[in-house]
Amino acid sequence: MEYINMEEHFAHNLHSFWSILLSLFFFFIYSTCSSEPDVHIVYLGHSAQHDHQLTSDLHQQLLLNVFKSEEEAAQSMIYSYTYGFSGFAAKLTSDQAATIARKEGVVSVFRSKILELHTTRSWDFMGLPLRETPDDDEAPQSPSSSTFGDDVIVGIFDSGIWPESASFQEEPGMGPIPGTWKGECISGQNFTPSTACNRKLIGARYYLTGLEQQLGPLDITPDTEYRSPRDRLGHGTHTASTAVGSIVHNASFFGLGLGTARGGAPRARLAVYKVCWNKTGDGTGKCSEADILAAFDGALRDGVHIISASFGTSIAQLLPFFIWSADIGSFHAMQKGVTVVFSAGNYDYSPDPSTVKNVAPWSISVAASTIDRSFPTQMVFDNTVTILTVKGQSLITTQIDANLADASSHFYNGTCSRGRWNNRKAAGRVILCFSTMGLITSAEAADAVKKAGGSGLIFVEPLARQVPYVDVVPTVYVDIYQGTKILHYLGSSEWRPTVQIMPTRSIVGKAPAPVVAYFSCKGPSALSPDILKPDLSAPGVNILAAWPPNTPPSQSSSDT
Ligand SMILES: *[C@@H]1O[C@H](CO)[C@@H](O)[C@H](O)[C@H]1NC(C)=O
Ligand SMILES: *[C@@H]1O[C@H](CO)[C@@H](O)[C@H](O)[C@H]1NC(C)=O
Ligand SMILES: *[C@@H]1O[C@H](CO)[C@@H](O)[C@H](O)[C@H]1NC(C)=O
Repeated sequence: MEYINMEEHFAHNLHSFWSILLSLFFFFIYSTCSSEPDVHIVYLGHSAQHDHQLTSDLHQQLLLNVFKSEEEAAQSMIYSYTYGFSGFAAKLTSDQAATIARKEGVVSVFRSKILELHTTRSWDFMGLPLRETPDDDEAPQSPSSSTFGDDVIVGIFDSGIWPESASFQEEPGMGPIPGTWKGECISGQNFTPSTACNRKLIGARYYLTGLEQQLGPLDITPDTEYRSPRDRLGHGTHTASTAVGSIVHNASFFGLGLGTARGGAPRARLAVYKVCWNKTGDGTGKCSEADILAAFDGALRDGVHIISASFGTSIAQLLPFFIWSADIGSFHAMQKGVTVVFSAGNYDYSPDPSTVKNVAPWSISVAASTIDRSFPTQMVFDNTVTILTVKGQSLITTQIDANLADASSHFYNGTCSRGRWNNRKAAGRVILCFSTMGLITSAEAADAVKKAGGSGLIFVEPLARQVPYVDVVPTVYVDIYQGTKILHYLGSSEWRPTVQIMPTRSIVGKAPAPVVAYFSCKGPSALSPDILKPDLSAPGVNILAAWPPNTPPSQSSSDT
């Protein structure tokens, strides 16, 4: 349920810019019969009070309109936002929410939604471009590359941090923490500020109350989550090191992509705000809007200069700016001169036009593009009559020798998915799967081949979609032309061909780049199509960056 108080809207946003945008807003009232209390966000606009206690008291007063006692009101309150903006999160029934929405000073009231991390794999969205190392003589020296972001504080709203990573150690000669910094490192499960934080990682907080109120208590059994800023999912560690990671020489993924890893601004300071959690075990982080707004409030109080975040929903329609946490938070950040950078959103299948997310004009929406690096992998097929050689893309580090089998010998109708397995074991076999047979993703196919006991997967999909992933079984990606060639080769002989898959090599400078990744959401904005979105694209495909040592890069719990 969402409510927007149009009068308050105008009262708070009298800029001429706004009057244009306001015509886009709708008066939303979804009536529901539910009387179960739910986490709602009550948004009151700009926080004019310098007395935060007074603002907080005002929030309590508002709640007293719908609760009988101060105790009940206090109990329903989850967060009071008083620094970046004024508002609060509380457990309210729909009737209570409707009553509060009519009160003076209330801009909007909406149910706190659960968002997802936009990116769950290492090749995904990154916010800042990769440059050559500063000691590379051939790299052009731009004014910014001399300081590399020293004294800029970047707040990352994500799944937390793995502080021991080399990417978060101090750069040599780093100055003291900027005097404007008011944040801190909070201790928690497996997270001790005195060892985790330094002049590089200067802040670490976590926000969980909203999520637990909405989805129930967090599971903190070993290998599940940490009730602290420590990262379990890996996404936050990856994005943080991509944005501001210190220089790490001789970094590679099992030898692939070997080189110097570093963030776009390797001397910038890092403040971590953990808002996304491993809650449902499906590998996609879950983030509550109530927690996200608390992180905005906290980060603006702490004094970050830039906020980077990549969450949203992959399929839901865009909502008016003033009932969407990220748009509210980034609006007030912008008012304080803090730049907010969002992902444009990802989608497993090629997204159609007007799927771009995080489209508020006051924030930056970034699409993911490729870099000129590729991972060619050679395969040699032998049916004792002729030999076929095909090149694909992969991240395979050891040679594989196996027999080749078509998907149809192990999966009904040749659809490589778990549910279509015909129970025929595939030990010692590499299976040829077409994404077009049943419209499956490579992750589904790899999972299915793993279940069948296969030793590898050749995944055929349109060229435009080809991105090698870290999969639960070794997977080589080929385009439909090559896939068809292999399929016909397989059918041309009575003998089951053998296949030899060579270890992948990394090649730089050959692939055309940048190309916007197929999975990156496309404009124009469905909310304000006359404002161009995404704003820019940046390397976000097969980017090497930090990762927690005990989290599988495939993000599958079956991956040991
Ligand atoms: C660089 O990394 C590779 C692979 O991890 C390792 O074998 C090698 O010893 C490292 N070299 C240096 C100089 O650290
Ligand atoms: C997330 O939690 C589930 C259990 O809910 C667990 O199986 C999975 O391994 C966890 N994911 C990570 C990356 O730790
Ligand atoms: C296989 O495809 C045929 C024809 O499209 C369909 O009728 C049949 O139900 C499919 N079988 C399975 C197991 O999905």
